[in-house]
Amino acid sequence: MTVLEVIKKSSEFLAKKGVDSPRLQTELLLAHLLKLPRMKLYLNFERTLLPTELDALRALVMRRAQREPLQHIIGSASFCGLEMLVNKHVLVPRPETELLAELGWQFLSSINSHPPTCLDFGTGSGCIAIAIAAKCPTTRIVAVDISPEAIAVARQNAATHHVVDRVEFRCGDGFTTLNGADKFDLIVSNPPYIASDEIATLETEVREYDPRGALDGGADGLDFYRRLATEAGAFLKPGGKITIEFGDDQTKEISDIFTAERWTVESVHLDYTKRERLLTATCS
Ligand SMILES: C[S@@+](CC[C@H](N)C(=O)[O-])C[C@H]1O[C@@H](n2cnc3c(N)ncnc32)[C@H](O)[C@@H]1O
Repeated sequence: MTVLEVIKKSSEFLAKKGVDSPRLQTELLLAHLLKLPRMKLYLNFERTLLPTELDALRALVMRRAQREPLQHIIGSASFCGLEMLVNKHVLVPRPETELLAELGWQFLSSINSHPPTCLDFGTGSGCIAIAIAAKCPTTRIVAVDISPEAIAVARQNAATHHVVDRVEFRCGDGFTTLNGADKFDLIVSNPPYIASDEIATLETEVREYDPRGALDGGADGLDFYRRLATEAGAFLKPGGKITIEFGDDQTKEISDIFTAERWTVESVHLDYTKRERLLTATCS
């Protein structure tokens, strides 16, 4: 079979299995297998695949048909133009979270602090902390996660992107990993924000493959925002800010939680689909 024939056949199979964007998913799997940029497949449509390549592709397509996320199969996800190692211990970084990283490095690049400092609460793969460190080369970051396996992945990503000297990883329960001397210009967080009993309703790729500890935000999904609103202020420098990501339809509840703890909500930002997704607040 040629590259083009196999793309068509596999796409049809994934479509029947209800996988979104089946052609793109097939092309990405094949490009990964052949170690080619996806666009190069188009120059190789007439190439005949070796039997070993066909077998290997079949195995990858079967995994995707069973709804294993593409990023788990190929072992990485692109985030702010950086390839991040991912596995079952970390949330697959989402495109909307790139906006959080971008707001972070824009703010840290604009302030007069030497060095600018940032806390990433719930770092997972380390994607936000590493992207900020890569784009804002003077920043020093503390990145915290309760999962030792996630911290191991984040450390590898920091090494790959040459920021180990500026990102310090701490494993433990949120603010308990900090001490009174830790003060930051910016706290960023994409915490778990799904209500516990909603997790069963999520698509298989998320429900079965993202770690539960990265999703579960407690009974109403808002536990981590309460915690951030109560505890984060003590770790901000004067003039510091917090920028957080949240889920659909959570803007009002989260604004209320922060306002009740004497924060001033400065701005709410939309994601690429024009949904309210990020909030920046200052502490008085
Ligand atoms: C939604 S994921 C975000 C991961 C990554 N920052 C991203 O945006 O892709 C939330 C992360 O918070 C971590 N987490 C959950 N509870 C925590 C806690 N009590 N203290 C620190 N991290 C926690 C989870 O292990 C998970 O890695």
